[in-house]
Amino acid sequence: MCGIVGYAGKRQAAPILLDGLSKLEYRGYDSAGICVQGERELRVFKAKGRLKVLSDQISGGAAVPGVVGIGHTRWATHGAPSNINSHPHLSDSGKIAVVHNGIIENEARLREWLIGKGWHFRSDTDTEVISNLVGYYYDKLHDFPKAVRAAIKRVEGSYALGILCADLPDMVIAVKKDSPLIFGYGEGENFIASDVPAILKYTRTVSYLDDGDMAVFTPDTVRFFDSFGDEIRKSRETVTWEISAAEKGGFDHFMLKEIFEQPKALRDTISPRIRDGRLELGVELSAEFLRKLHRVYFIACGSAYYVSVLAKYTLEKACKVAVEAVMASEFRYSDPIVDDHTLVVAISQSGETADTLAALREAKSRGAKTLAIVNVVGSAVAKTADQTIYTWAGPEIAVATTKAFSTQLAVVYLLALHMAKQLGTLDEAEIARLLGELQKLPEQVERELREENIERIQYYCSRNYAHNSAFYIGRNLDSAVCLEGSLKLKEVAYVHSEAYPAGELKHGPISLIEEGTTVVALATIPALFDKTISNVREVRARGAEVFCITLEEFAERAGKVSQYVFPVPAAEPMFQPSLSLIPLQLVGYYIALNRGCDVDKPRNLAKSVTVE
Ligand code: G6P
Repeated sequence: MCGIVGYAGKRQAAPILLDGLSKLEYRGYDSAGICVQGERELRVFKAKGRLKVLSDQISGGAAVPGVVGIGHTRWATHGAPSNINSHPHLSDSGKIAVVHNGIIENEARLREWLIGKGWHFRSDTDTEVISNLVGYYYDKLHDFPKAVRAAIKRVEGSYALGILCADLPDMVIAVKKDSPLIFGYGEGENFIASDVPAILKYTRTVSYLDDGDMAVFTPDTVRFFDSFGDEIRKSRETVTWEISAAEKGGFDHFMLKEIFEQPKALRDTISPRIRDGRLELGVELSAEFLRKLHRVYFIACGSAYYVSVLAKYTLEKACKVAVEAVMASEFRYSDPIVDDHTLVVAISQSGETADTLAALREAKSRGAKTLAIVNVVGSAVAKTADQTIYTWAGPEIAVATTKAFSTQLAVVYLLALHMAKQLGTLDEAEIARLLGELQKLPEQVERELREENIERIQYYCSRNYAHNSAFYIGRNLDSAVCLEGSLKLKEVAYVHSEAYPAGELKHGPISLIEEGTTVVALATIPALFDKTISNVREVRARGAEVFCITLEEFAERAGKVSQYVFPVPAAEPMFQPSLSLIPLQLVGYYIALNRGCDVDKPRNLAKSVTVE
């Protein structure tokens, strides 16, 4: 987590840095800070809390003149959120200022070494080790880029850094390893940022820095070097995202906006892969490789892990292969059974989640063929995997994922159909039929998002927001969708919630059901409807308030045993999770709203988790 920005140009830097940071707050919001080059000194302003606290203190940047600077928004790892621990950090000499995203693993040893050399520390952060280390080498070498290179050589861990030197008022140095960093080219101005939305307002021309890359730039020049210090050329890419994608566009929250963007995101992800009724996924998974497959692993974290659970049900049914969904943080240390007859699929919105990246590298080192399903183009996971299928969800800003989840799931369907075709587990006609059904999803989601449905959910949430405990129950695919619904409620509404397979509830958790407990029941699978409804009866008998999500044709029957019913359109059974999911996202959102929670920036969370 943490987001960094940097600017060198002719305009006032502070407002541009603050604006960039506002687009990176999804990466952390424990504190914010900027450093701007003054006449003869580095001027640092930082404050604990949201960016707004800092922005108010410096009048939106107007109070800080200067045309070169760096900025940071923090998700605390080393040291509590406080003014002192906020970035940027100055070296003891006052000559160097650093913003950092990542973790320095040999921080303790370096700190001790620097203290031995007479360097003082003010904060508990690992970052101050870098500012002091660069300061130490700058005093010795009197060469800013060489000092940065020397310091970096001694540092272990992950970092994206923006660095200023008081003696070189128009220069910024950026360097990265295992944390994302992009360089943006303007006219007479240059930018760095952790992510594209931070600079989209100013430029669409960017270079993605690779591990070990260093950029040394001024308003008019930039030079790139590799980890050996040799000058390199970086290819320039044009970002195609709309600027509006990073703005709220009339919605109260990014989360709601992104829920409503799902029909488009699904269309953008599915349509380009189907040409003249035929699937063109653009991956190399030959029939020969697939036939010899021992196992497929899906590895991911958070919501992406729940997509993986859905993938297990989907691929096993469609392709008749053994699939395991494993949390990336567990995969790496579980001595997984992986060989060159294993396919490992990593799913990640950001493409930079440390656990997912580490698990992916582990899988590669064990000889697996690897595939990534990723939203952020050029991200570390995308670069690491043998092949990548992008979800075209556009930038997702709200911390709680919605449209990225939906598009990941759509890619899982496409992958299942691709593999089924290669393996011959579904015939051509059936695949063509399923592709036709898949293309209906965007319109079906649109239908779910109609005014009357939103009002229905709002009504339910306005009457049930005060409960502090909830259960999400369902069977088969429904039980996997429950995992995501329950996580949404936890993440944004701070309600303790459990997702449980409906049939398993009686083996323990039912003891927690009492008068007024919220139960959200998913019963969208016709063959299992009666079974799930029996479980609904069991919780009703114990006082639960039940909100049942079911197919339109079952709504009346569900209404006989549940206080609230939300009918969803019937999709092809394999794709039904994409439709059952929508009311659950809305329930999370509106319950959070009723509880007065900060929906887009839930406490303690960050969207990109770059620590293990
Ligand atoms: C964090 C976020 C979750 C997200 C998970 C995986 O924990 O709060 O919403 O699902 O990371 O992120 P990724 O970018 O890898 O999909």
